[in-house]
Amino acid sequence: MKRIVIVGASSGIGRRIAIDFARKGWGVAIAARREEKLKEVADLFPDQIEYEAIDVTAQDAVTRFNNLIERNGGMDVLLFASGVGFANPELRQGLDDEILAVNVKGFTKIINAAYKYYKNTENVGRGRIAAITSVAGTKGLGIAPTYSASKRYQQTYLQAIDQLAHLQCVAVDVTDIRPGFIRTALLDPHKQYPLTMAVDYAAPLIEKAIERGCRVATIDWRWGLIEGLWRLIPNCIWPLLPIKV
Ligand SMILES: NC(=O)c1ccc[n+]([C@@H]2O[C@H](COP(=O)([O-])OP(=O)(O)OC[C@H]3O[C@@H](n4cnc5c(N)ncnc54)[C@H](OP(=O)(O)O)[C@@H]3O)[C@@H](O)[C@H]2O)c1
Repeated sequence: MKRIVIVGASSGIGRRIAIDFARKGWGVAIAARREEKLKEVADLFPDQIEYEAIDVTAQDAVTRFNNLIERNGGMDVLLFASGVGFANPELRQGLDDEILAVNVKGFTKIINAAYKYYKNTENVGRGRIAAITSVAGTKGLGIAPTYSASKRYQQTYLQAIDQLAHLQCVAVDVTDIRPGFIRTALLDPHKQYPLTMAVDYAAPLIEKAIERGCRVATIDWRWGLIEGLWRLIPNCIWPLLPIKV
């Protein structure tokens, strides 16, 4: 039986992917802060899903993460799906602090712990470290500077970990999943966003990218086109674009 650990599975994308992998017969371990939400998911597949309350910003996050891997009987795939995101055109310090704590420091802590698990554990086989970053990480977005920069950080960090694994001959592959807008609690329910995807549509595409072992997967193809077009826009033109969501 294959085993996946999903950090950030109490709601949204991570929750849906946890249920799908359990349906496929995988051993699934889930984590996030809201224990009651995790229990609801685990109760759907009591023989297959383990859970642990983890706040990735807390001191004990790595200890709890390692316990969860052990209770799951190992980890073939880590999916880091925890994240917070806010538009912050007023540049409020409190919002920035929260984004940096979860998307940068918490992310780094868990990715490092997963890497060390693959590096230091005997007979684990080849593993995969996957994380949900965002199309927002491919350009600096004026409406959400810290969020877009945190996602760029995640993308660069995953690239670095991939190279480190080659340098150190650690048997781990890396998947960077970059979705466009998905209708979850992360989005403002009162706002309209372009090309919004349902979780039911996006989650299977993400799962396919993980199972096929993609290095980078933009979800979906329309957002792939947008990302490609963005790359062609010169730096002198980008600041003039009125991107408001
Ligand atoms: N929705 C989109 O449009 C979209 C687009 C691109 C990328 N993404 C990325 O996709 C990922 C998942 O987001 P989502 O859309 O599924 O939103 P969501 O429903 O709000 O899920 C976010 C998850 O992160 C967890 N989380 C937040 N703070 C945490 C902390 N301190 N410690 C541990 N877990 C924490 C939440 O659980 P608790 O609150 O229970 O801790 C929840 O399970 C995020 O990284 C987001 O940036 C989303």
